[in-house]
Amino acid sequence: MNATDLRIDPARLARRLEALAEIGAIEGGGVCRLALTDEDKAGRDRVLGWMKELGLAVTIDGIGNGVGVRAGREGGAPVMTGSHIDTVRTGGRYDGNLGVLAGLEVIQVLNDAGITTRRPLAVAFFTNEEGARFAPDMMGSLVYAGGLSREDALATRGIDGTTVAENLDRIGYAGPAPCGDNRVHAFVELHIEQGPVLDIEGVTIGAVDSVQGISWREYTVNGVSNHAGTTPMRLRHDAGYVAGAVVAHARELAREMGGDQVATVGSLRLSPDLVNVIAHTAVFTVDLRNTDEAMLQQAEGRMETKVAALAAAEEVEVSSRSLARFPPVAFDADMVRRVERIAGSLGHSVRRITSGAGHDAGIMAALCPTAMIFVPSVGGISHNVAEYTKPEDLEAGANVLLQTLLELAGA
Ligand code: GLV
Ligand code: MN
Ligand code: MN
Repeated sequence: MNATDLRIDPARLARRLEALAEIGAIEGGGVCRLALTDEDKAGRDRVLGWMKELGLAVTIDGIGNGVGVRAGREGGAPVMTGSHIDTVRTGGRYDGNLGVLAGLEVIQVLNDAGITTRRPLAVAFFTNEEGARFAPDMMGSLVYAGGLSREDALATRGIDGTTVAENLDRIGYAGPAPCGDNRVHAFVELHIEQGPVLDIEGVTIGAVDSVQGISWREYTVNGVSNHAGTTPMRLRHDAGYVAGAVVAHARELAREMGGDQVATVGSLRLSPDLVNVIAHTAVFTVDLRNTDEAMLQQAEGRMETKVAALAAAEEVEVSSRSLARFPPVAFDADMVRRVERIAGSLGHSVRRITSGAGHDAGIMAALCPTAMIFVPSVGGISHNVAEYTKPEDLEAGANVLLQTLLELAGA
């Protein structure tokens, strides 16, 4: 059989997606496998088991990234695919998981067909892509690609106050492989779009040409607690008020800037968090994203100015720290064209698309020619238990991945 005629087995891919989604399953069909929790460990164990069954040579590096390699006829840097298997607390079953499990499906197809590629092939799952427990997001791939030191990553404290190092040790995934043994010939990641574009347009494949820039900042506002009934409005130093005004400003800022600007306050904690007590402390996050670096910087500047003005007027103290900062990424033009061409040759509709979400591929692009393949998210819903991609679209995306990897690795 000609290698270009090879196709993935959609039922087998669906079975693995199902089996991984059992771990950390939550109401509504979703998954909670926050990075480096017991659920993440159980998910990792399952994926590692599959990698070994498929005959991959598996390594775990010092930040917990798992890489399974299938030898090629020649040595040298592998063609790599992969993604992440950690989720947000209210995640779906496809975000990240699809990319890893489609990679394993590709390996199984080649095993069954008895094909050895010229270059080695590798399937990776990167630690803490989500950043929902430990910031920054894309932590594992960032360390892998040399954009963050392993030491700094390990010292990161999460939302529960514990460190990456403690949790990595606890789940037994501080591996012996060196971080940054990072020779990769090319990287290709299959992912759900997580937005509405492909679904609305009825297009099956997105050839991702760019990823928008991401700026995450955490603010801490310190005011004064007092009685909610007795304290005149003019005498308040209300941390909750400042936080609320920033939530409203985020919406206003994005509306005023227009274009691709988005702004979100996704986490907000007030202390002491009681009905009749003015909050003395507010800790909240601001997520700003734009496809254009200059516009993203403008949004950051406007947000800083607004927060300072609100704090001055309310006479409260504000401090902040960056949780994550990634400039926009443009993928290798030849790789994008390759995905487009292969999708077309398999009979799928295809369009170029910008990723609104962050991805390990965006980090790997610093290391080697990189591409992403998107498949539609029904209703554009993601980071939600209702996240769904139709079986035929999963199949189409995995077949584009298969043929892209085969071409890059040399059948
Ligand atoms: C990470 O996956 C993000 O885009 O928030
Ligand atoms: Mn993802
Ligand atoms: Mn995600």
